[in-house]
Amino acid sequence: MKRKVLSLTMAMMLGLSLAACGSSDSSGDSDSSAKTEGSESADSSSEKANKDKPLVWFNRQPSNSSTGELDMTALNFNGDTYYVGFDANQGAELQGTMVKEYIEKNIDSIDRNGDGVIGYVLAIGDIGHNDSIARTRGVRKALGTGIEKDGEINSEPIGTNTDGSAKAVQDGSIEVGGKKYVVRELAAQEMKNSAGATWDAATAGNAIGTWSSSFGDDIDIIASNNDGMGMSMFNAWSKDNKVPTFGYDANSDAVAAIAEGYGGTISQHADVQAYLTLRVLRNALDGVDVDTGIGTADEAGNVLGEDVFVYKEDERSYYALNVAVTADNYQDFTDSTKVYEPVSTQLSGDSHATKKVWLNIYNASDNFLSSTYQPLLQSYDDILNLEVDYIGGDGQTESNITNRLGNPGQYDAFAINMVKTDNAASYTALLSQ
Ligand code: BGC
Repeated sequence: MKRKVLSLTMAMMLGLSLAACGSSDSSGDSDSSAKTEGSESADSSSEKANKDKPLVWFNRQPSNSSTGELDMTALNFNGDTYYVGFDANQGAELQGTMVKEYIEKNIDSIDRNGDGVIGYVLAIGDIGHNDSIARTRGVRKALGTGIEKDGEINSEPIGTNTDGSAKAVQDGSIEVGGKKYVVRELAAQEMKNSAGATWDAATAGNAIGTWSSSFGDDIDIIASNNDGMGMSMFNAWSKDNKVPTFGYDANSDAVAAIAEGYGGTISQHADVQAYLTLRVLRNALDGVDVDTGIGTADEAGNVLGEDVFVYKEDERSYYALNVAVTADNYQDFTDSTKVYEPVSTQLSGDSHATKKVWLNIYNASDNFLSSTYQPLLQSYDDILNLEVDYIGGDGQTESNITNRLGNPGQYDAFAINMVKTDNAASYTALLSQ
C-alpha cells in the first residue's frame, strides 16, 4: 500500500504526464511499478471484453453539468455498472440547518458590528457539479436568501452584494428572542483557479483576503461548499478574526479545527462510500448478488445498515447518508480515514481471488479525495482482495486521465472519477474499443 502512495506522490511531484499504461518497465513511474506488483499475484483477467467488465463511477455522477439530468447511458453501460456517491440534497439541507442553528444559538455575539445584518460569504466549489450546486442551495434555503429559478433555488455565484441588490439572491431574515435580523449573502464566488481547477483551496484563501478587506466587520459567517476551501479561509483569516466557518466533508484537519473555532462540517460518510465503491466491483467479479456485504451480510459478517446508505435501483446509484459534525460531537469524527467497523472484516483469498482494478482520482490535490477518500480505498482494497492501480489526475483535463487508460485489457474492473460529470463517454469509448 505504501508503494501506491509513494508512486502517486512521485507522479504528482514530477508532474509526469504518463504514457499509456501498456509498457511495463522498471523506470519507477507510477503505473508500471504498481503493475509489476500486480502481475505477481493477481489473476490476469481478460477473457471478458472490456465493455463487459464491472464499472463503478464515484464522486462525480454522470450527468449534465447544466441541468443535472443523469446520464443513464453511462449509468447503464453494462449490467455491472453503478454509481457511488452520497445523498447531496439531504447533506445540503443538513449543512444549511447547521449554519442556521449556530446563528440562533450564538445570536448574542454573531453580529460583529451590531448593525442588525448577519452577513455571510460563500465559497462555491464548481458551478457544474451537482454536490456543489446542492450545497449552495442548501445554505441559501436555510438562511432565507435563496430565490427560485425554474422551480429550484438559484445556485449562481453573485459576485459581491454589500447593499443587498443582487438579483440571484435576496435578503433573508431570522428572528431570535423577539428580535429580527437581516441575513445577507455579501459575496459568492466559484473557486476556480486560472488553470481551470475547481474547488480550489488556494483561490478561496485569496478570496477571503479580498472579501475581508472590502467588507471587514460585515462578515459574520463563512460558508463553504467543502472543507478544503473552508480550511484555507479559516487559516488565512477567520480563525484569527473568530468568524465561524462551515465546510463539508469532515476531513480530519477540519474536524480538529472545530476545537479552535471552525463552525462545523458535514460527514458524507466517506468510509461507507469508499467501501461501496470497491464492494460493488468485488461482488460483480465474484458473480454474486450486488447486495452481498451491503444490505445483506457476507460470509465474513460485513453489512451496512439502512441508516448509512440508500440504493436507488432506477438510478443505478448508491448514496451514503450524511451526518452533521459540530462542537457537540466532533470527537467521534477525528480520524476521517478510519474504516467503517461493520464492513471491516477481511475476505478470504480462497473464495475471493485477487483481482486488478484501475481507479482514478480526478484531482490528486483535492483535499477530500486525497486526504480522506483515497486512504480509505487503500484500506478497503486489502480487505476485499483487490489490487488497485491509483491514477491521480490534474483536476483540469480529462485526457490527462484517459491517456492512462491505454490498456484496459490488463484490468478486471474500473472505478472512475471524472473531471467533468458530462464526460462519461470519453471513458466508455475506450472500454468499448
Ligand atoms: C467533495 C469535495 C470534492 C469534490 C470533488 C465532493 O463530494 O465534497 O470536497 O472537492 O467532491 O469532486
